[in-house]
Amino acid sequence: MESEVVLSVKDLKTYFYLPHGVLKAVDGISFDVHAGELVGLVGESGCGKSITARSILNMVRDPGKPMGEVWFYRNGEGVNLLEMGPDSPEIRRVRGDALTMIFQEPMNAFSMVHTVGHQIMEGILLHRHVSKTEARRQAIQLLENVGIANPGQRVDEYPFQLSGGMRQRAMIAMAIATNPRLLICDEPTTALDVSVQAQILSLLKDLQRRNGMAIIFITHDLAVISQIAHRVIVMYLGKVVEEAAVREIFKSPQHPYTVRLMEAVPDVALAKGIEHGRLQTIEGFVPEPIDLPAECVFYKRCPEAFDRCRTGLPELVQVGPGHFVRCFKFGQQGRASLP
Ligand SMILES: Nc1ncnc2c1ncn2[C@@H]1O[C@H](COP(=O)(O)OP(=O)(O)OP(=O)(O)O)[C@@H](O)[C@H]1O
Ligand SMILES: [Mg+2]
Repeated sequence: MESEVVLSVKDLKTYFYLPHGVLKAVDGISFDVHAGELVGLVGESGCGKSITARSILNMVRDPGKPMGEVWFYRNGEGVNLLEMGPDSPEIRRVRGDALTMIFQEPMNAFSMVHTVGHQIMEGILLHRHVSKTEARRQAIQLLENVGIANPGQRVDEYPFQLSGGMRQRAMIAMAIATNPRLLICDEPTTALDVSVQAQILSLLKDLQRRNGMAIIFITHDLAVISQIAHRVIVMYLGKVVEEAAVREIFKSPQHPYTVRLMEAVPDVALAKGIEHGRLQTIEGFVPEPIDLPAECVFYKRCPEAFDRCRTGLPELVQVGPGHFVRCFKFGQQGRASLP
């Protein structure tokens, strides 16, 4: 994609310094996001998706520490968000305005002592020069846009008066209220039923087309990713193991982990003629990323592993246009060991 870069993450590492060791939740990831682009961030539970998102917003708290660079660009000017204090006025001018997030746990995003409308209006009033009446009108409109019935009444209710699904949608309304340059969605529709989910996804796509909003979309649901993403980043144990355009990654996934993730998606499996009985989750479990041995992160679960894989971590290598894979199958003396 040729359009301008909105976000550039460079060698991001977020470690948690715990009593029993250093937990490397995110371990050296780099990627760019362009205006109008939807980047899907996928991987099993615990691979570091949410911590990546929180690190981009510089919201990781002790004992966690994000290191590296997170460049956010607005009007041609870039700022490194990790250089700002996590609670500084500078970052508050960015966070909640040009850069917003829909959190995995909607309860944490709302204060229980203010109405939903008050909280949506707060963002609008803080970052836009509009009257209270106008902010309220916009809040009602936003609630309507995310599919909340009786928005004129709901706007004056408290978060605990809304159902879980409605709270999730109200949070989405809050996140898009300021018309952000970049929206990070962490499992935004998992708790919603299928028709509401479709409605939210089409709303996000629409905002993206109209306003050139960029989106990082975190999910377990590869079927959703196949429908909405332009590019996909696959994470495993805090590392990027594969990155490619959406069509490419579904058509020809290269990393053994990605291949297995894909096979676990019913539609993809069907297209590849995998019988239903063989459809299953990947064997084994994701270990805790503390004191990991010096081997490929996927070595213990990889059905294609060979000698070299035990001896170190492969680099991310380019295997096609915009297609990167971290696997010894693609060189770094790995190929020599293949039959
Ligand atoms: N506050 C914390 N303290 C210590 N470790 C943490 C903390 N938050 C997350 N972790 C660890 O960091 C790693 C990455 O967690 P993260 O929440 O980013 O995973 P995830 O990919 O979002 O998983 P899920 O799909 O379940 O949401 C995990 O090993 C997790 O246990
Ligand atoms: Mg998560």
